[in-house]
Amino acid sequence: MTSPQNAIMHSATVPCRVNLIGEWIDFNGGTVLPMALAPSVTVDIQANQTTSDRISSAQFEGAQHVAIDAPATHHWADYVRGALQYARKQAWISTGQDVHVESAIPVGAGLSSSAAIIVATLKAVRPPSASVTDTDLAFAAKDIENTFIGVPCGIMDQMAVALGKPGTALALDTRDCSYELLDMPASWTIVVAHSGLQRALSDGRYRMRRDECLEAARQIGTEFLCDANPDKLGGLDQALASRARHVISEGKRSQEAVVALRAEDRARFGHLMIESHNSLRDDMDVSVPGIDQLVADAVDLGANGARITGAGFGGCIVALVDPAILEEWWRDLKARHPKIARIA
Ligand code: GLA
Repeated sequence: MTSPQNAIMHSATVPCRVNLIGEWIDFNGGTVLPMALAPSVTVDIQANQTTSDRISSAQFEGAQHVAIDAPATHHWADYVRGALQYARKQAWISTGQDVHVESAIPVGAGLSSSAAIIVATLKAVRPPSASVTDTDLAFAAKDIENTFIGVPCGIMDQMAVALGKPGTALALDTRDCSYELLDMPASWTIVVAHSGLQRALSDGRYRMRRDECLEAARQIGTEFLCDANPDKLGGLDQALASRARHVISEGKRSQEAVVALRAEDRARFGHLMIESHNSLRDDMDVSVPGIDQLVADAVDLGANGARITGAGFGGCIVALVDPAILEEWWRDLKARHPKIARIA
């Protein structure tokens, strides 16, 4: 089959995302509410007519020059290479590719920088004539992350970056991937602040928490842990019962949050964010003391709500703030936490 791609340059730009609420439920049958953010990644791709991919970036160290069918090497370029290998299997491209990545997305911040690189690569090589939707690309990206990279993530991040528009929330039912894009009310400011504490999904803790959720569902005898009855957790050991408590309560919170967003009820939405953080800290056990303090101070200084976002273990918080107090609130928060950086 001849390649649909010739030697012209193909580019795609994809945003990162913050999850407003609905954490650790995208593989447990929950509804999640991520929002795309302005920082983005751009991938430029050109066929090089060799049997190697050459991948470089101004932001990430170490260009890679590697055989097109080589396995993952725990290098940032794996995200590009996994996507290129998928595209070659689909016959969207055939030979090796020269790829350049420009990214303004902080790594290890819980903002889906890896999903954004995979999806941007797939979007750049998607043949214009084929009826491959953004949802199709999100599923492909998840599969690449699960199999080539080896992180057993859910579908939230890939859908959020493939379909999201900065400033718009994506209410995504992760059972069937039906979704709705919801405008953020003008009287809400969503602040995303990096704590300065890095984390990596591939260090095993994500898999461990995920396995605990799946085991809890198995022992309860339910397909989706979100559906379990919170009064029937007595047979589980303490850790599994805690994970189940988080997932069941977070599933309800995120549905309530969608209602609060539609009603532009900032106080209610903020309250749900605080409850979500407490549950992630106490039951899911994915927060860290530095972030607990940052969340507590964000609320103490007047935010309607704040929580750790993404998988946790470090990274960013997301806060909901009244625009009228925003400037003063941020100044005071920064005075208490000089290392934080505002991403959005
Ligand atoms: C990571 C994963 C997602 C999701 C979140 C936790 O971002 O990639 O699939 O599970 O953690 O909500």
